[in-house]
Amino acid sequence: MDRFFLTTAIYYINDKPHLGSISETIAADFVARYQRKLGRDVLFSTGTDEHSQKVEKSALQKNLPVEEYAAQAAASWKSLFDRLRISYSRFIRTTDTDHVRVVQQMFQQLFDQGDIYKGSYEGWYCVKDETFLLETDLVESKCPQCGREVQHVSEANYFFRLSKYQDALLSWYTEHRDFVQPEMRYNELMNVLRGGLRDISVSRSTVKWGIPVPFDPEQTVYVWFDALINYATVAGYGRPEFPERWPADLHLIGKDITRFHGIIWPAMLLALSVELPRHVFAHGFWNFEGEKMSKTLGNVVDPSTLIANLSALIGIDEPLAVDALRYYLSREGTYGMDVDFSTQRMLLRFNTDLANDLGNLLNRTLNMVAKFSPTVPHPLLQPKPVVGQLFAETLARLHADYDGLQFSAGLEKTWALVNVLNKMVEDDKPWALSKNGNLEELGAHLATLLVGLWYLANMIEPCMPTVAERILAAIGRAPVTWSELSWTAPEHLPTDASTVLFPRIQPDQLDTFLAELAGHRAVEPVPEAPAGEPSPSAFISIEDVAKLHLRVATVLEAERVPETDKLVRLFVRTGDDQRTIVAGIGKHYDPADLIGKQIIIVANLQPRKLRGIASQGMLLAASAGDDLTLLTPMATIVDGAEIH
Ligand code: MSP
Repeated sequence: MDRFFLTTAIYYINDKPHLGSISETIAADFVARYQRKLGRDVLFSTGTDEHSQKVEKSALQKNLPVEEYAAQAAASWKSLFDRLRISYSRFIRTTDTDHVRVVQQMFQQLFDQGDIYKGSYEGWYCVKDETFLLETDLVESKCPQCGREVQHVSEANYFFRLSKYQDALLSWYTEHRDFVQPEMRYNELMNVLRGGLRDISVSRSTVKWGIPVPFDPEQTVYVWFDALINYATVAGYGRPEFPERWPADLHLIGKDITRFHGIIWPAMLLALSVELPRHVFAHGFWNFEGEKMSKTLGNVVDPSTLIANLSALIGIDEPLAVDALRYYLSREGTYGMDVDFSTQRMLLRFNTDLANDLGNLLNRTLNMVAKFSPTVPHPLLQPKPVVGQLFAETLARLHADYDGLQFSAGLEKTWALVNVLNKMVEDDKPWALSKNGNLEELGAHLATLLVGLWYLANMIEPCMPTVAERILAAIGRAPVTWSELSWTAPEHLPTDASTVLFPRIQPDQLDTFLAELAGHRAVEPVPEAPAGEPSPSAFISIEDVAKLHLRVATVLEAERVPETDKLVRLFVRTGDDQRTIVAGIGKHYDPADLIGKQIIIVANLQPRKLRGIASQGMLLAASAGDDLTLLTPMATIVDGAEIH
């Protein structure tokens, strides 16, 4: 059987899953399900990237042994993926024993053949992105990628001879113009290659939570070198099955990690004389209502809460809410480009495409079949060939879309067919056909709807597996591969018209829903105003309160802003984030006294520049007349703790 091996990036475990990260796994699941319908034996991997300094630090902050912290975090990613119905074949953790073995084996081999050598590294390191940086890479002394402070690193470690593979990579790129997609990412990497490659450090002497370098226990393998190898582990590197499973057909990743996948990983494989993956597809980023989604801005959409809220507000069960989210993520934007998440557009899509078009088609079909089919002799249930032709043609065009990962275009075509059937109901007027005893046309009408729905359920399945299952159960048909679909008379007729997919949100409910969903928090009833309190109009709602992201932060640095007596520049740590805040407290505090103190900050305030310094948030202080005091927690608590 034809095989297809696809992978997602593996996720850093000290980041909570957000809409952007899960969108990649959902897209990969779409591809996996589509490929299975082509009759292929699909190997589909996703998982967690667990080693690194920041994981070590987070475990320490949480007072947990790092292994336990990693196991808990990986389990929560995995259970979310299960909830999202991700049909992975392997959820790989970089702490899995087979992976550790493969990493050590490859490291040893590269060292033995001289592709890894001992040297010393002096430069910068971004802990968030786990990237080594040159002085010239930095932007205003910060990481060019995430904008965070970088650490100065000076240590003896091992290097991989990346530069040696520059020419081989250039030839590979020239001969395989579709190796990296979309084309703009290919062009970017081609420019990097033409600009020249330098050897990269692939071990750390200061990070303990990593895979030990097999011949030098003082060093651990650099987390990216370790992580990239996960793809070979999944394919069974070093075991008899490897040649059958490798190369990967598709590495699906985000645009921020193209150099690792398009240059470093292929160079490692060239050095190991292993075939290169067939394609690397780099998708764009999900932004939030016009802004980059980031913890610093506090606008990260939490998928679990969003699903719970969608389900509670709309009144659908959770698997349907998951599908509604999967649909929105797949239908919005052009895959590969950045997309903007908008609660309003998600609800509009829900109403038009799911409730109105698809939900309505299923309901009316089931109702009409239950009502009319007893009067129509079975041989008259012949689907209309013209409509069949249209379905077959659309299906062929759909393959081109899905082969190129153009999910939205494929879904658009599918919905065009939904609407062909809906329009057919209006044009054919089945009630009139029944009344006039026009059984031949009525039979053709009902059969077309049923066979059409069977096709549609299969076409929808890669995107919305639960919806597909429910439609198929309602019409009594099975899921099939593409080649098994045939425009032939239905054998059995459904009699139960009770399946309802998506109820419609009424226009007068829409604003309430939007307000409720805006924070993506659990829905809570709004309590009545207690007697004696200000009038309700003076109250703010719980949604308004939730807009404020108040966090505990520790002051790491504090200094006066030159030429002012009022402004102090603070550099604070809020959990995994570090940021600069400029505050007007210079007349009340000596900056040196603030270092090491915990304060409370508004974490999601729009950043603004004060005296040319970008201030990312504000701190809370109480003031009365000339008196001012900073608010601080009564007892020390972990940085980043939320204030409710
Ligand atoms: N651990 C590395 C990947 C190692 S792969 C050998 C990593 N992890 S990550 O958790 O930061 O990102 C995982 C994937 O999620 C990446 O492909 C990244 O591009 C993607 N996304 C993270 N934020 C995203 C959005 N806002 N939107 C879309 N995808 C995003 O990098």
